[in-house]
Amino acid sequence: MPAPKKILIDCDPGIDDALAITLAHGCDALDLVGLTTVGGNVSLDLTTSNALRLREFLGFPQVPVAAGSAGALVVSRIDASEVHGFGGLGGAVLPEPRLKAHDGHAVDFIIDTLAASPGEISLAAVGPLTNIALAVRREPRIVEWAREFVIMGGSYTRGNRTPAAEFNIAADPEAAAIVFGAGWTVIQIGLDVSLTALATGQVLERMRGLGRLGSELLIPSLEFYGMTTAHDGPAVHDALAVACVADPGLFEFTPAVVDVETAGRFTSGMTVIDFNLRGRLPNANVARSIDVERFWDLTLESFAQAAARLPWPGGLPGSPRG
Ligand code: BDR
Ligand code: CA
Repeated sequence: MPAPKKILIDCDPGIDDALAITLAHGCDALDLVGLTTVGGNVSLDLTTSNALRLREFLGFPQVPVAAGSAGALVVSRIDASEVHGFGGLGGAVLPEPRLKAHDGHAVDFIIDTLAASPGEISLAAVGPLTNIALAVRREPRIVEWAREFVIMGGSYTRGNRTPAAEFNIAADPEAAAIVFGAGWTVIQIGLDVSLTALATGQVLERMRGLGRLGSELLIPSLEFYGMTTAHDGPAVHDALAVACVADPGLFEFTPAVVDVETAGRFTSGMTVIDFNLRGRLPNANVARSIDVERFWDLTLESFAQAAARLPWPGGLPGSPRG
């Protein structure tokens, strides 16, 4: 079996962020090397606290969690607490974290981590792109150092925050414009694809056999998430970006030129995606479809491994939580 791919996740947990983190932790094909947080679904304090809670609940205390930007570069902060709950994890209530966040800022952590292992670490961003934009501005060489850069954000057909704009891009359009213009090929998983991978009743049934991982995290968070969706179950957007690092063959991609609308009165935060290129070089590979069945097989297999690795509640004697 090939060595697991190292992955650094910039996130705003967030229910689907929590699923993405659980997937990264449980998946044999991945080696989670860090979590950085950004204000998004809920405030930075809460997204950081949720990342710390997830780290201890799931049991990877050695992986640093670094807090980053509280708000967007230019626009006022928006959140999605109506979708993720005021705490950010829906109906899941995880214990207070005992361990602290990394001392440094997320932007420095991203730069330093990629600089230390050029070409080795996949960077996945599943929240507003503020930290990534600041990192690219401060150290443009990160676009060469990242093994690949995957985001969950945008779409070529529709929005969810507004008719035109997906939440992660709408939350910081200027940051997204910087990131898409940075000179790397952004692997973009947008709503067009993420809205096809739903945690249906059948999927939830498969999660019920996962002990405390199911009963304390997956089911209560997803049942809450499901209350705000008009589909057959909630879309687990961010988990797709992590699955893409583990197995890019799950997706079909088309190269495209992606521009981010920052000025439109009705379209601010829209990703304007041109598959026709019109003489320009593509700056993105845009996901067009996903094999949903294989995605859930990978995800549920990884969740099962995460469930088997859960530390005892309260921590084992001698463990970092004990
Ligand atoms: C994205 O917005 C957030 O609410 C989710 O966590 C996901 O990253 C989906 O539009
Ligand atoms: Ca997110």
